[in-house]
Amino acid sequence: MSNTSPGRARSTLAARAYTEPAWFQSESDRIFARMWLAVGRASELAQPGAFITRDIAGASVIVVRGTDGRLAAFHNVCRHRGTRLCVTDEGTFAGSIQCAYHAWTYGLDGALLAAPQMDAAPGFDKAHYPLRPAACETWDGHLFINLSDAPPTLDEQINGLPERFAPYGMQDLRMVHRIHYDVATNWKLVVQNYNECLHCPVIHPLLNRMHHYLGAENMPSSQTYCGGAMGFKDGVETLSTDGKRRRAVLPGLGERERNLVNYFAIYPNFLLTLHPDYMMTITIWPQGPGRTRLVAEWHFHPDEIAKPGFAYEDAIEFWDRTNREDWAISEQSYQGISSRGYQPGPYSAREQQLWEFDQFVVKRLTGD
Ligand code: FES
Ligand SMILES: [Fe+2]
Repeated sequence: MSNTSPGRARSTLAARAYTEPAWFQSESDRIFARMWLAVGRASELAQPGAFITRDIAGASVIVVRGTDGRLAAFHNVCRHRGTRLCVTDEGTFAGSIQCAYHAWTYGLDGALLAAPQMDAAPGFDKAHYPLRPAACETWDGHLFINLSDAPPTLDEQINGLPERFAPYGMQDLRMVHRIHYDVATNWKLVVQNYNECLHCPVIHPLLNRMHHYLGAENMPSSQTYCGGAMGFKDGVETLSTDGKRRRAVLPGLGERERNLVNYFAIYPNFLLTLHPDYMMTITIWPQGPGRTRLVAEWHFHPDEIAKPGFAYEDAIEFWDRTNREDWAISEQSYQGISSRGYQPGPYSAREQQLWEFDQFVVKRLTGD
């Protein structure tokens, strides 16, 4: 599977890595069903009974706040005859989860509480049929699930990031705006596009007024994430339509963080962008080799949200425009890669992180 040879530039992956259903299925099984996946924010589930459901990697999962205040995740599958339990994205259970088919009823801890007409079934014991759990953890307000039967700790996957981002106080921030995007591209092209700014002068006239596009300070990639920081051009205070900052700097930030944006792709499905005064998160939901849903959310400090005249539209407009520029070129990129004339091409020295991301994918798929 190596795509290097002596004396030649490191090259992009073969077309089938982007287009083949079998490759996509392997990614689903060996990457998405094994790694921790970002699914939302713990603050969305404030009250006991509050839930979200998320479909990914062939699974549907309910994440719910229990009566004891703890978060738990369960497969969204009835233990009777397998019916999907919950068909809405979010809501609040009134103390229990009931299947719409024959009314098997589960507690918020997954225990089977009632199973009508099962008394006469030989050997039936409710204790043997709780909802199947999935692992669930939070990091600084971000909610993650893991579909593996023997998951590594979340900390292994985000190793080093909690310390780096602690000054941002991410768990205090609250979501103010969300946009769903449906993009005709492969999920890996979204991650790759996020990880390089060589395209910024060409694709993003507005963003390019804010950053020196070659000025990224990248961290060495790990096997589970990559990223770096980019400083602002003179006179720019944050990423907004005019570069002006309409909100106070996040309270924990030092001098350095006030003048840059952190861009981190936490594999496989979380793009975390931290500005001096707000956070943008993008979660990635692959639907097929050539189709990817993306959910972008903008999060702000509660003190700012509470102020009369709180302004946030400048940040949304800036990023919605920039995101759409990225999605459009990622679709165009997919069109070329999935057509007959495509051959793998050489990466530049400034595309090292993209090559490393490719290696992450290939290693996960081949078990190296
Ligand atoms: S399938 Fe859920 S109660 Fe029968
Ligand atoms: Fe971009």
